[in-house]
Amino acid sequence: MSSTPSLLICQALILLPDGEMLQGDLRIQQGQIAQIAPEITPTDTDKVIDATGLTLLPGIIDPQVHFREPGLEHKEDLFTASRACARGGVTSFLEMPNTRPLTTTQATLNDKLQRAAQKSLVNYGFFIGATAENLPDLLTAKPACGIKIFMGSSHGALLVSREAELEPIFATGSRLIAVHAEDQARIVERRKQFAGTSDPAIHSQIQDEQAALNATKLALKLSKKYQRRLHILHLSTGAEAELLREDKPSWVTAEVTPQHLLLNTEAYAKIGTLAQMNPPLRSPENNKILWRALLDGVIDFIATDHAPHTLEEKAREYPHSPSGMPGVETSLPLMLTQAKQGRCTIAQVANWMSAAVAKAYGIPNKGAIAPGYDADLVLVDLNTYRPVLREELQTKCGWSPFEGWNLTGWPTITIVGGQVVYERGKIYSEVRGKALQFINS
Ligand code: DOR
Repeated sequence: MSSTPSLLICQALILLPDGEMLQGDLRIQQGQIAQIAPEITPTDTDKVIDATGLTLLPGIIDPQVHFREPGLEHKEDLFTASRACARGGVTSFLEMPNTRPLTTTQATLNDKLQRAAQKSLVNYGFFIGATAENLPDLLTAKPACGIKIFMGSSHGALLVSREAELEPIFATGSRLIAVHAEDQARIVERRKQFAGTSDPAIHSQIQDEQAALNATKLALKLSKKYQRRLHILHLSTGAEAELLREDKPSWVTAEVTPQHLLLNTEAYAKIGTLAQMNPPLRSPENNKILWRALLDGVIDFIATDHAPHTLEEKAREYPHSPSGMPGVETSLPLMLTQAKQGRCTIAQVANWMSAAVAKAYGIPNKGAIAPGYDADLVLVDLNTYRPVLREELQTKCGWSPFEGWNLTGWPTITIVGGQVVYERGKIYSEVRGKALQFINS
């Protein structure tokens, strides 16, 4: 196992928890932030990182990813995905249960934890997936960041779409329930109506805004009935955001993806099935309403829903092409570019991509740059712009819906638990992350 050297980051612009920036130095000892000051004198044992011109942010916590291991490793695996995380400044991830086998029992959860301990360069946590039959596992499986329910857009055992099946899950236990909210019955009906069409743009009409709204309403209703902690994954419509603006209990949170903020139905004409995901991309008007909801705090944080498929799979004719797109190595520069353009602040980006996630999932000691916090950090360069290039991508799927986008805020150095895992294009593949803890789950 690698040791954790004492690191001294010098002359960075450091984002402090109150949103202020400090030009100064930061010392890391034993994997934690030990000291922050305008100037710290190096000792003989300090390894010094000159961060002149760079901005230091808390490491990104991506709370929704699909890393495909076990069972779908031709698309991605925990090693390749966590290398992509390292390059993207993502120091922790929460991974979804739709692998093969499904993560629906303690044994399958243990298997994922063991694999991650062996292969993941960054910190990891896993959801336990709900079926209509595994309530006992949902109550006891540990450690898990929460229960994932696919109310729609899934098939097989992981699909729990009917109210009668959902109700006992909401009624029993107290741990966080995260829902993929789409109305499966409506989708099935609309698929029949649009049968025979191979234009991928039709995807947004089959799995339409009403389908998302119906399911979000049902999840909210059950959450309110049982006062059950609910998290709504990848909000995609303005209608859902407006619903939450009117009626969002204190125990409910919601997230949005960079693609639902920055891409819309116009993308199908440019990148075809690469723009196909669930819930689908929406109209430009929805982008605007989602942004407003994020800025106003109706939406709490950002997740990528990194869901890689190979280019060969994506090349199948719609509807045989799979839904999903990768995201972990572009999310931070995408959002920082928005900040640089004045749409939000850098402190807001750090909150949405780190602090607010740690708070919502009860992850101790992460999400802030303060003494005693874990040294999960990312130094970004906000002075230069570079395009998203296919040849630089670390994800095994080898493509991005954002190829060619000229972005700033690319990570220069990523640090996990005090260890440099990425530095100026080089990935330190021997670094290993740790299992995350969840204090409420
Ligand atoms: O587009 C999607 N693809 N959305 C999801 O929620 C699942 C994912 C996948 O696993 O491919």
